[in-house]
Amino acid sequence: MKDIITLGIESSCDETSAAIIKNGREVLSNIIDTQIKIHEKYGGVVPEIASRNHIEAITRVVENALKEAGLNFKDIDVIAPTYGPGLVGALLVGLSYGKALSYALKKSLVGVNHIEGHIAANYITHKDLEPPFLCMMTSGGNTQIGYVKDYCNFEVLGKTRDDAIGEAFDKVARVIGLGYPGGPKIDKLAQEGKPNIELPKIHLDNLDFSFSGIKTAVINLHHKNPDINKADLCISFEKTVSEVLLQNVLKAIEQTGVKKVALAGGVSANSYIRKEFLKLEDQGIKIYMPDLKLCTDNAAMIGAAGYYRFKNGDISDLTLNAVPNLKLGE
Ligand code: KG4
Repeated sequence: MKDIITLGIESSCDETSAAIIKNGREVLSNIIDTQIKIHEKYGGVVPEIASRNHIEAITRVVENALKEAGLNFKDIDVIAPTYGPGLVGALLVGLSYGKALSYALKKSLVGVNHIEGHIAANYITHKDLEPPFLCMMTSGGNTQIGYVKDYCNFEVLGKTRDDAIGEAFDKVARVIGLGYPGGPKIDKLAQEGKPNIELPKIHLDNLDFSFSGIKTAVINLHHKNPDINKADLCISFEKTVSEVLLQNVLKAIEQTGVKKVALAGGVSANSYIRKEFLKLEDQGIKIYMPDLKLCTDNAAMIGAAGYYRFKNGDISDLTLNAVPNLKLGE
């Protein structure tokens, strides 16, 4: 069978990325141009600045992806840009570029849901992983447990009612003075701490999550007691949110009978959370997680998800628009 070459394009937030993927799982190149340094001084992503930087980077990033893969534009079979969720101005850059390329090259356009992309990062790392499985999606904009019934068939079993988990990491880090992006900074400092601070854990009756109470408790503790050991606070925060995630994952396993769980999204790079999830393997649950560099935003995962959408016949037309609040399963 002929190989299928997908160009994945990602620009939903502050990473401009392009990747060349062979047959959905093999990464020939994955160029990531991050704007972290630009947004750092504002303490978070400034949407208008992000869009402008995507425009400056997109052509170079796509050309570099092709060059690194040793291919030309004519070798591409499928063009797969992210069309949501994300910042609308940022999404429009990668999507418009992808649409123009598909028109010019007469190649299939496949719009990709960014959340499906995070899930598909696991297909690249784990060549043997196939649906059905459960996916604990933990990123800066999303926290949800998905039931991946097939490559293009998802059911959301539970989601956050307030903050996304990555948002909680970033806000806690900002308040205690670690800066942006908070997740990796908390991860690093926590390694010097002891989980000896009790924080409130909010368990809801169903599979939904709530992180705002935990976040506020950490912030209040720090305000009331500025000398509190920050490393202890960080690891106690990680321990508390891990317990919340794990409890819901165990409930989802009980509900569905599915004993395969994949992690996805930026927060799945967290070393404490990764360790805690791996402990579930002692209970006969198989755990999958993407390589660290595939946890945060990148176009390889978008190309992988685009490949499976292409195989499913989900070809987009040139009227495809950016959908900032796109949900999993839509
Ligand atoms: O998946 P992602 O790159 O973007 C979205 O699609 O939202 O996730 C970004 C989030 C940020 O909140 C960042 O602080 C968090 O992932 N993050 C981490 C770690 N690395 C990135 N959180 C905890 N520990 C980490 N090591």
